[in-house]
Amino acid sequence: MYINFWYPIVRSQDLEAGKAQRVRTLGVNLVAWRGEDGQAHVQADTCVHRGGSLSKGLVKDNCIVCPYHGWRFGPDGKAVAIPSLGPDAKLPARAKIDSYPVQEKYGIVFAFLGDLPEEERPPIYDVTEFSADGWRGTEIVVLDIDAYYERSMENGLDPAHNEFVHPSQGSPGMEPDYLKKGLGLEDREWGTRFFVSFDEKGHQESDLSGLRASKKGVRAGSGHHGPNHLQTWINFSATNAFHQYFFEQPVDESHTRVFFLNTRNCMLDPKMDARANEANLKVAHEDIAVLTELNPVRTPENNVKEILLPPDQAVVRYREFLAEWERRGWRIDLKKLRETAGDVAYAIPCPDRRTSGNWVLDPIPLVPAADAAASATPARLAGGNG
Ligand code: FES
Ligand SMILES: [Fe+2]
Repeated sequence: MYINFWYPIVRSQDLEAGKAQRVRTLGVNLVAWRGEDGQAHVQADTCVHRGGSLSKGLVKDNCIVCPYHGWRFGPDGKAVAIPSLGPDAKLPARAKIDSYPVQEKYGIVFAFLGDLPEEERPPIYDVTEFSADGWRGTEIVVLDIDAYYERSMENGLDPAHNEFVHPSQGSPGMEPDYLKKGLGLEDREWGTRFFVSFDEKGHQESDLSGLRASKKGVRAGSGHHGPNHLQTWINFSATNAFHQYFFEQPVDESHTRVFFLNTRNCMLDPKMDARANEANLKVAHEDIAVLTELNPVRTPENNVKEILLPPDQAVVRYREFLAEWERRGWRIDLKKLRETAGDVAYAIPCPDRRTSGNWVLDPIPLVPAADAAASATPARLAGGNG
């Protein structure tokens, strides 16, 4: 898991004005709350007085109020009132919690979980279809998976599993020329993508078969942006496409919450949303059934502990991007986090930590940037094309 990216926190519609909720992300608890003015906020959940859980408190006057002794914190994370010091007291400079930049987009509250200044932050993936004419985006669907998010991301970047995992899609398999050409990966600033053509191999009728121009000629692509934004473009034909966007929330080291946005340029009648979602969920559950059984739960530290083949190229490239972010010092040290669980309250460092001191909570342990360079394993593919 990595700091310094935008993470989906909660669906906009699930965060009511004047209410708070706890959201576990990157292995720590956060409080998401919406002020009476409608603004959403995401902050560290741990009260710096004596460890109260702010998400169990109240929202009052656009502040989050700790349920233990009533300290109030404003949207910038600074305490604005400490009842036991009286109304006119000077508040200690350390009375502040980490507060994260927030954006609401596609019906999702996103938080930037990290300390990079604004101009250096990787952006949220831009879904151009979301507001484009001739396209329809359905309401965000939330999927909870008992699997590590990187396993889920890699599944989306793996075109070779379709014919084995997805009988409901008509078991499409890649056309064999990928063996000669590879996937034709194309790098972008924060990730990679590829397109392949599929052949219908199975004999079952697909739920989406009515959309296809023919049984052959489905062209589909996948890509990632950052560690946790996944794209899948399924083009049945030029006028029949499902473009799907998965914003993944690593809850902890073995649980993931996926915020799924489906856009399409066909079946535009809103009444068709239910049918489209039903077809998508069937496919998602076929993936989840495999993902929850993978061993080990997290991707092995070392690529020689798996046999990676040419169709795994996008998976390998994804791991190379992760290794680069590890070299920058953005990777959370899961072992240390695990060893100190229950003894230390950590916070993901917020941008204000770069410009001010006096923070009470320890920052979440990170793999040091220098060590990361030495430990990163180069990716290897078996069978050529690597
Ligand atoms: S623990 Fe939050 S006010 Fe005391
Ligand atoms: Fe799949």
